[in-house]
Amino acid sequence: MLLNRRHFLTYLGIGTYGMMREFSVLGAKFPLPRRPSRPPVFFKPIRASMEDKLILPRGYRYNVVCQWDTPLGTNGPFGAEKFGYDNDFLAFLPLDALKGGKNRKEGLLWVNHENVVPMFVSQHLGGGKSRQQIQKEKLAVGGSIIEVRKEKDQWKLKPGSRFTKRFTALYPKIPLSGPTSEIIPEATGTLANCGGGVTPWHTILSCEENYQNFNRSVKGFSWGDWDEEKINENEYGWVVEIDPFGELPPMKHSSLGRCAHENAALGIGTSGRLVIYLADDADDQYFYKFVSSEKFNPKASREDQRKLLTSGVLYVSNFATGKWLPVDLKMSPELQKEGFNSQGEVLMDLRKASAALKATPLDRPEDCEINPKDGTLYIALTNNKRHGNLFGQIIRLVEKNDNHEALEFSFEILLAGGPQSGLACPDNLLFDRKGNLWVACDISSNSLHREAYQTFGNNGLFVVPTSGPSAGDAFQFASGPVQCELTGPCFTKNEDTLFLSVQHPGEQSKDPANPTSHWPEGDKSIPRPAVVAITGF
Ligand code: FEO
Ligand code: CA
Ligand code: CA
Ligand code: CA
Repeated sequence: MLLNRRHFLTYLGIGTYGMMREFSVLGAKFPLPRRPSRPPVFFKPIRASMEDKLILPRGYRYNVVCQWDTPLGTNGPFGAEKFGYDNDFLAFLPLDALKGGKNRKEGLLWVNHENVVPMFVSQHLGGGKSRQQIQKEKLAVGGSIIEVRKEKDQWKLKPGSRFTKRFTALYPKIPLSGPTSEIIPEATGTLANCGGGVTPWHTILSCEENYQNFNRSVKGFSWGDWDEEKINENEYGWVVEIDPFGELPPMKHSSLGRCAHENAALGIGTSGRLVIYLADDADDQYFYKFVSSEKFNPKASREDQRKLLTSGVLYVSNFATGKWLPVDLKMSPELQKEGFNSQGEVLMDLRKASAALKATPLDRPEDCEINPKDGTLYIALTNNKRHGNLFGQIIRLVEKNDNHEALEFSFEILLAGGPQSGLACPDNLLFDRKGNLWVACDISSNSLHREAYQTFGNNGLFVVPTSGPSAGDAFQFASGPVQCELTGPCFTKNEDTLFLSVQHPGEQSKDPANPTSHWPEGDKSIPRPAVVAITGF
């Protein structure tokens, strides 16, 4: 299943479409001239752009489904509930998902809310933050369940739906399951929710990523300044399971470990065990998979199916040997030597355990997805400036015997970021059913258009075929507004709509009266993260 020589040439800059960019700043001879490969069949790629717009190929359009601060028409423990900030991972479930999922016009949308831009969320412009400001920020993170319906070719929010609910950093206690529940039985709410996944029993796995930033903002003036507002960091960095249909209570599953969890990609192994691939997004951190103890039984109740997440083995990858190493105190003498006293401690301090096992540190592993065509796994390594890997790459991991439960794997590189491929810093991934990989990029907003990133425009969304003559070539489908990141791409079941998060537009603004982006409302408005529905497929 390994890619052929032609694809190797692609990494060297031959055969990509990226030549269409014209950035005079670096001269007409950069990047290297290339033979244009065949364009993809279903859209005409756009060019990189620096405009403060969400730009799509001809024939496609979008509407804003919900944006930060939109009242949701429900009341929570802290009053009227509003849509949170920095929408990220999206999961669309047809309204009748528990009964076959045939409904194409009504559904629930789960939305992660990862972070805040204090200038807009709490109007914090400098100096110490008041507790009231911190509370505003705590209510803007977490996640939202909203109901949406299709009217003509637009998707609209249904305010006050019985499913509507906000999960925030102030949400009442969420219990932990698994080994660490003996040390930390419960957590206050959820925060830093980045990527995620959907279980076969239609619950959401929402991944808590950079929880530590809230206590220790790089610019100071953070929640940690107040003893009363400081978070207990051991309560975060978990994978939280949430049932959008409200039948099962939320739960943080400690068997999946604690780190800067980026996402969760789910598969079923040859023997029927549930496998969840997990990435820890930081420089030189690791890639994991969880294999459940019990086998998946589609006929079991949802409550019994979720128990698969409470018991199993977590493995960490060694790319040099192609081996999955159990992060398990009973199975790994290295962990016993490291001084861990219990499996609960191992899972809570997962990075330390993985280092003791000599797992392979990676260049910021972010999203990963299983190709529905062949079951192989694609992983985005965003970048690692510590090692001079400025543009990142996408790797393809092939499990031994095509079995997600295998203890050995091999890998190759699908695509290297850089001017030659036209994209940099791949982050969110999504497969369509044809096996095209959709790649959203995350060049950090303070690096955009600067230094090594001058040939790239704003962050965009690309389509990369994984088979055929254009396999490994990137074709730009969307360009986001100024200083945003496009995140959480998610198709409806019949792929007639792509939901997409536009996260942190105008993130580098210094003055709320004169922000760097005015998206989506335009004129002189402040920027607002929003979820859009793209149609025209
Ligand atoms: Fe939340 Fe690593 O992106
Ligand atoms: Ca990400
Ligand atoms: Ca994804
Ligand atoms: Ca990111």
